[in-house]
Amino acid sequence: MENSKQKGKFQSNFGFLMAAIGSAVGLGNLWGFPYKMGNGGGFAFLFLYLILAVCIGYSCMLAEFAIGRKSGKGAIGAYERIGRRFMFNGWIATMAPFFLMMFYLCLGGYCIKYLVANFGDIFGASWGVGDVASGDFFNTFVADPVQAVGFTLIFAVLTIVIVMGGVANGLERFSVIAMPALFVMLLITVIRSVTLPGAAEGLAFMFKPNFEVFKGWGWLKVLASAGGQLFFSLSLASSALIAYSSYLDKKENLEKNALIVPAADTTVAILCGLATLPAVFASGLEPTQGPGMLFVTLQTVFQSMSGAGPIFGTIFYLLVFLAALTSSISMLEGSVSSFMDRRLEKGKSQGRTFLCLTIGGISTAGAVLVALDALGAAGLPHLFGFSTWLDTFDLFSEGILMPGGCLIMTIILGWIRPGYIDDEIKLSGSYRSKPFVEICLKFLAPVFLAFIVVVQMDGFFKLGLF
Ligand code: TRP
Repeated sequence: MENSKQKGKFQSNFGFLMAAIGSAVGLGNLWGFPYKMGNGGGFAFLFLYLILAVCIGYSCMLAEFAIGRKSGKGAIGAYERIGRRFMFNGWIATMAPFFLMMFYLCLGGYCIKYLVANFGDIFGASWGVGDVASGDFFNTFVADPVQAVGFTLIFAVLTIVIVMGGVANGLERFSVIAMPALFVMLLITVIRSVTLPGAAEGLAFMFKPNFEVFKGWGWLKVLASAGGQLFFSLSLASSALIAYSSYLDKKENLEKNALIVPAADTTVAILCGLATLPAVFASGLEPTQGPGMLFVTLQTVFQSMSGAGPIFGTIFYLLVFLAALTSSISMLEGSVSSFMDRRLEKGKSQGRTFLCLTIGGISTAGAVLVALDALGAAGLPHLFGFSTWLDTFDLFSEGILMPGGCLIMTIILGWIRPGYIDDEIKLSGSYRSKPFVEICLKFLAPVFLAFIVVVQMDGFFKLGLF
């Protein structure tokens, strides 16, 4: 355990990278990316995604790393350091993962259920999926409150316990094992997927240039979907990256890290596409199934692979579970870190355990509501005319707080306090990308983020703009 007057530090840059990549790599990569790529015309989506990753992903990530490490504080303290009047943006970043956790912990619980069920199938256990149609299996599971809440609670407890362990003993120690393991399992799944008979069609879908979907205003739709996805996938504007970089040694190169994390996240996203889309094509299923892909379509794929199916299913859902867990721990750390600063400033102990239990507890209560809601099937009342509680919490986080907070960050760093991050980046590198980053933070990112805010509102409230 770290000294209660200090928040802790990563012991190595590798540990930092694994934790930051762990934050980025999550359900967004394994679930969102393949199905959005499926809906966005395959290669056309990938093409726009890569451009955005270079321009928006790199510069926003570098900015978050710099403001985090410069202040040595969580999001609230980090923005306060730029100027007291910007502190509200730290609050926005601190609240975002609160709402994210409210649905992420539940989805993480679903992953555990699928891991257990596929494992059971290896030796024909009664709690496996067996011959049940994957759609029915999913619907029955989510509608069972005891199981849905039970698995959500297991996932929530794991998240809270790891974060209670602190930076070096909790986050770092878990990430340096989980992330390489995840990568190996991903490669195994990719090899299986691309060598299935009929996989070539999926590969062509992903990599053969085809811009049919761009016709008319189609490109704007794909741009919106790729942008929203990138944003979520890189864990931007949700206090996690600021907190992590505040635990990073001053001698480590921020530019290099800001390049490695989006590059690794994008590589993993493409690998996740490779692990899933060719297998979906090989099974004669459609790649445009939307969110059902992870738990319904892919489960069908594993069931249709004779013999070794359950083994690959187990490896795959273990991978998804680890990816979700390394993301959920960073969500909790982001919020906890901001509040630890407030306590330390008042001369109290950091109170890590207390904060993990209270913040984690409140988020878990939200997640239990999402689990009980059974994706709207339980008939619970909902806010704002939404059909699920998941959508409501997603609106607060992905819809409003994250793109809004990131937009405000680019306005602060691009226009009100240009140059604020320069000295921090130069501490440990040449900052050769400065002209590029400045153009991105000043012009490209704000325009793009404003666009994403509009797109999110359109999506949530079905305004019909896109
Ligand atoms: N990047 C995560 C994923 O792809 C989700 C995420 C969004 C996140 N914001 C975050 C994770 C903040 C941790 C912290 O699934």
